[in-house]
Amino acid sequence: MSRFSIASLEPDGGTECYADLERKARAVGERLRRPLTLSEKILYAHLAHPEQDLERGSSHLALLPKRLALHDANAQLALLQFISTSIPRVRIPTSVHTDHLITARNGAAADLEEAKRVNEEVYKFLQSACDKYGIAYWKPGAGILHQIIFEQYAYPGGFMLGTDSHTPNAAGLGMLAIGCGGMEGVDVMAGAAYEIKHPKIIGVELSGKLGGWTSAKVKGATDHIIEYYGAGLSSLSATGMATIGNMGAEVGATSSIFPYTRSMGEYLRLTGREGIAREAETEGEWYLRSDKGASYDRHIQIDLSDLEPHVNGPFTPDLSHSISTLSAAAEENPSWPKELSAALIGSCTNSSYEDFTRAASLIKQASAAGLVPKIPLLVAPGSEEIRATLERDGVLDVFTHDAGGTLLANACGACVGQWERADVVKGQRNSIISSFNRNFVGRQDGNSATHSFVSSPEIYASKDVFFFRQQVVVAMSYGATIHFNPLMDSLPLPNGRTFRFTPPAGNIWPKQGYQRSLEFYQPPKNDEADVQLEIDPRSERIQLIAPFEPWGGEDAQEVETLIKVKGKCKNLLIGAINSENGKVNCVMNRLTGAYGTIPSVANTTEGKRLISPILVIAERDVACDIPAADYDKISGMGMISVHGLKTFAPGCDLQVEIVHKDGRRERIPVRHNFTARQVNYFMAGSALNVLAADADK
Ligand code: F3S
Repeated sequence: MSRFSIASLEPDGGTECYADLERKARAVGERLRRPLTLSEKILYAHLAHPEQDLERGSSHLALLPKRLALHDANAQLALLQFISTSIPRVRIPTSVHTDHLITARNGAAADLEEAKRVNEEVYKFLQSACDKYGIAYWKPGAGILHQIIFEQYAYPGGFMLGTDSHTPNAAGLGMLAIGCGGMEGVDVMAGAAYEIKHPKIIGVELSGKLGGWTSAKVKGATDHIIEYYGAGLSSLSATGMATIGNMGAEVGATSSIFPYTRSMGEYLRLTGREGIAREAETEGEWYLRSDKGASYDRHIQIDLSDLEPHVNGPFTPDLSHSISTLSAAAEENPSWPKELSAALIGSCTNSSYEDFTRAASLIKQASAAGLVPKIPLLVAPGSEEIRATLERDGVLDVFTHDAGGTLLANACGACVGQWERADVVKGQRNSIISSFNRNFVGRQDGNSATHSFVSSPEIYASKDVFFFRQQVVVAMSYGATIHFNPLMDSLPLPNGRTFRFTPPAGNIWPKQGYQRSLEFYQPPKNDEADVQLEIDPRSERIQLIAPFEPWGGEDAQEVETLIKVKGKCKNLLIGAINSENGKVNCVMNRLTGAYGTIPSVANTTEGKRLISPILVIAERDVACDIPAADYDKISGMGMISVHGLKTFAPGCDLQVEIVHKDGRRERIPVRHNFTARQVNYFMAGSALNVLAADADK
């Protein structure tokens, strides 16, 4: 049985062996007496207790991931929580990536320097904590976690977690990667298994030649893994599949997965991981694909040749328009600003060499005709490796010189609301188009009046004309209006003639290979005994924390609701719309009557804790849920009591008592999906308290 190193940069980062994974997955398959999907093989090869129940959609899996990645926004609290356990070193290979805190303002170099100044205390803390606890640290400028995972850590058939919903980007290399919360990340760092309801599995059979489809075609994917297979796979590149995996998060999928393909092998070899490719090809034949006859909970067929480019928005990726109907949709919605004010490309979603070279080919066509984009074009490479490769090959120059675009730092920036624009003031209505993955209110520039459109997920085709998402955005920057269809419309030239784009052409891989860059990498230390944590005692951002208190043994009586959220709410309430006032991250402090941000109001006010964070309730899909009709009865400015905590156990509903404004009280049952272990965590105050106590034994 031959083993391979799962992270070439980290000699102690663990090894893997396909024969071993196969043996574990086969044993479970024999017990279940049925063929397995690829998703099941990977999940079952990583079970903490292989003898456990394995009912899709109901069993709770306890899984042992091989790796964890955190970004700097949630690594701060996660590491502080980990430190509070006194466990001396992380128990799973872990990396921290400084990508979320870099504001996009004046361009890459200036923005990076400014971020280092503004976030100095955060970066110093993260760097020292990584050193102390055996964690790899990727410094500001290294790039976005998903791109770096793809370049350095992902491998076929592996299983990992990342504290960000787009972690399934690693699917492009056949890795099952799941986005988790920061707290779950802390648990696995401390050695706990990761628990998740056994996902159902949607099988997507691809046929036809390279073409397009949208993830929006796969509706209702929450709590599902989307597993792709079929003859059409051979026309997809590993980086294209990464984009598909990344975008699966937008339809709520737990993750996405692809069987091993030749393109994955090519990418692994180009990025210095020949050994993994060889092992996958010689030892992974059974493990890295689904069994014949394996059954899916749902089955979808997509002919890659059929579909048309889409532009989705504004304000939600669910509002989908094919490129040929976008103009009519704009007519029907007079409130949409029709002129585009900016175009943005890159991010973790589409930073492949293929994406950039194809987009550059369109710019070259337009430049040759004497055209330049009519609106600012902002380019955010996903990593230093891809940026340096594009620079070496003269591709970056096409964006910055020929198109007059602005190169942004290798970071999330404008994708995560960190875009400080000088051209538009807050509240000013305008439209933008990006090839990023999200377009919720304020997602790019923090301006709720910005109508953000995203070019639709993945790859598009119109008959034989292939447009990748980045290309749609770049081409539309020349039309500068949402009425412009770059596949059909012409642009006027100064000489009275017209110009029309022809299909873009690019290279899947760089001919000279990738420009490997470890300039921004700090490897995990082996001997951390003398490392001092760097925490500025005057810091208002970083503070050591005491472990949470155990549950006091009583039901929660008359606690005030912090916020009732309207519309979609992702993992952070700071991006949530308050149903009471329609504003983002704005709730009333009921002690003072003043409005403030959610964290400031949820925190201590005048030395008094205002809100007890006892319960998060949703209509569906979270730990505690209730029917919509009951959800409507709860007021964002009201009060509730929570009963049943003394008998809190798997399968036993809690009771929420709503205290209505007129004094009436009404009880409603609240379903939860806590396992016995999670109930234990609640009683102990946190999972960490349990893990720390176990570590002391
Ligand atoms: Fe960052 Fe946006 Fe990706 S926030 S991780 S670039 S989705």
